[in-house]
Amino acid sequence: MISNLITENFREKFLQEPQIVVRSPGRINIIGEHTDYNEGFVLPAAIDKAAYIAASLRDDDEIHLLAIDLNESFSIKLSDMRPVADISWPNYILGSAAQFIKRGVKLPGFNIALSSDVPIGAGLSSSAAVECAVVFALNELLETNIDRLTMVQMAQKAEHEFAGVLCGIMDQFASMMGKKDYLIKLDCRSLEYEYVPFKLEGIKVLLLNTNVKHSLASSEYNTRRKECETAVEWVREHVEGVNSLRNVDEKMLNNYVLPKDKLIDKRSRFVVQEIERLTEGCKDLQHGDLAALGKKMFATHDGLSKMYEVSCKELDWLVDKVRANKNVIGARMMGGGFGGCTINLVKENAIDELVASLKSAYEKEMELPLTYYIGSIENGTEIIA
Ligand code: GLA
Repeated sequence: MISNLITENFREKFLQEPQIVVRSPGRINIIGEHTDYNEGFVLPAAIDKAAYIAASLRDDDEIHLLAIDLNESFSIKLSDMRPVADISWPNYILGSAAQFIKRGVKLPGFNIALSSDVPIGAGLSSSAAVECAVVFALNELLETNIDRLTMVQMAQKAEHEFAGVLCGIMDQFASMMGKKDYLIKLDCRSLEYEYVPFKLEGIKVLLLNTNVKHSLASSEYNTRRKECETAVEWVREHVEGVNSLRNVDEKMLNNYVLPKDKLIDKRSRFVVQEIERLTEGCKDLQHGDLAALGKKMFATHDGLSKMYEVSCKELDWLVDKVRANKNVIGARMMGGGFGGCTINLVKENAIDELVASLKSAYEKEMELPLTYYIGSIENGTEIIA
């Protein structure tokens, strides 16, 4: 059990018992990609892969961290807390702790041991999982009584300020608010959400990991965000009350964006279409029409690949290979892009054969391993000890 492992490592390193052990999961997203920071909708869920942290407060002003899986330690004084340049993992923890200071909470030093089975760089939000776990644990230990939604926003800020990725709210929201066997339909403008049942008879969520690490992701991600903002500015010059692509339709793009810049048009048109696709996809789910939802997932992939241009040859290859397979209901790249996983809705009894045939062909052609997981949908951030 990972919670035993983490407690033992904590004990060995810090010569004390942890005061709390928290689990916070990674996420999948069925449809609605790059829509969150455009105030659209997303449809994520928390999964059974998670970050685990054991933590205790100290009575001095020192922070001591242990990354069990990497066998690396890191220490810093509270007063020196700032983003670290050479190693990334402490930033997710420090950035989350910094949010308490920003809120005027008197933060003492602390010890944290971290372990995670969310694959890194796989588009399953391993960083959001850590951020949510840390915010949640510190909130408990400090008795600050911060509500979950505010904690989601604190975890998101940690990513902005200490990891430099201007992410939307989806990943942290899904990690913190996940519910077993439900998707979350989240309106990223109002932050209203509803749980949508997602227990499919004989169908599983299969995640195929390209094992391409998305190194381009953070710079390109921030660029995409800016491109969307530019489109909004151009539309706003002509249409009142437009604050995000959520308020924009394709006619507005035809009139005010396309004549100015083809690239900005392509980017924003993808987002406008994707928001619409999600809305329709939710109706498909409601009517039990998985085939229709699956078609939309393929359409999302094509948009992400050709219009938003955040795919890569390995992701495209994996989606193209399953396109005509009658056992695959839908497939697309998932998350920020440039690597990571594809998400596939696959008939359960066809999974083994599918993976076996893809694996040998992929590994031969791409010279990278192909790994896979079944995404089973679990609860969000919780105390486990
Ligand atoms: C990353 C970000 C999310 C979201 C997705 C794309 O995972 O962290 O906020 O924008 O990319 O949908």
